[in-house]
Amino acid sequence: MENLLEIKNLVVEYTSIKNETKSVVRAVDDVSLCIKTGEIYALAGESGCGKSTLSKAITKLVKPKSGDILFEGKSILKHTKEEARQYPHNVQMVFQNPYSSLNPKMKIGEILREPLDINTKFSKNRKSAIIKNALDDVGLAQSALDLYPHEFSGGQRQRIAIARALILNPKLLIADEPVSALDASIQAQIINLLKELKESRELTILFISHDLNVIRYLADRVGIMYFGKLIEENYTTNIFNFPREDYTKILLSSAPTLA
Ligand SMILES: Nc1ncnc2c1ncn2[C@@H]1O[C@H](COP(=O)(O)OP(=O)(O)O)[C@@H](O)[C@H]1O
Ligand SMILES: [Mg+2]
Repeated sequence: MENLLEIKNLVVEYTSIKNETKSVVRAVDDVSLCIKTGEIYALAGESGCGKSTLSKAITKLVKPKSGDILFEGKSILKHTKEEARQYPHNVQMVFQNPYSSLNPKMKIGEILREPLDINTKFSKNRKSAIIKNALDDVGLAQSALDLYPHEFSGGQRQRIAIARALILNPKLLIADEPVSALDASIQAQIINLLKELKESRELTILFISHDLNVIRYLADRVGIMYFGKLIEENYTTNIFNFPREDYTKILLSSAPTLA
């Protein structure tokens, strides 16, 4: 399999100034990893280890201090204007909290149309067909289009957020703790939806979670992060059966088993 995404020696730092003292947090510390076309790559690790920062660097929400991120072999840090314009068609993200990631004042139809209005010059009919298709794909009725986010449950809202992420037909979907805010019974539905979408849409997925049970079920490969570093990486079965690093063993032993 080819590499869709390649991260090379990535360093991301946050600088803050408090009481005239500058402090620097190195959230991602020299991380290198590759995500292959068509796989689900999971990033695991405790809260604060840098998972979200890494995903934000891939989606250009934060700027790396050093290192490189290649998408289909091209550095996203050296994009031309045209490549930058194209990038949202390649990479999209779903966030943890479906309550805050959807604008409460917009109807679902508007929420799903917005990425098309911003990023394409498609005809009205074509946009409507894409929106209809995305709603179908996430298992929501067309009647959702005229409703507002508050009229949906958490699981349904996450389906809407996934539909929005699919609107531009991206190659890579980054899902950052997409089920952590949901009830356990709903979690399984969303996880299965991601699995189905991977097949039907030929998606590559970067799945971020602190929940190893979910990762074990979903991922092809797993990377373990610890204090900004990628300390171990392997195929899912190997990570769970033959963890190499002590920290990975601790992480595995502290994961509750599925009831
Ligand atoms: N906007 C920010 N400003 C300053 N520090 C931040 C910011 N976002 C995250 N951090 C810090 O960076 C580190 C990594 O955070 P994050 O990437 O959110 O980790 P994770 O997603 O694994 O919980 C943490 O120490 C966190 O406090
Ligand atoms: Mg996070």
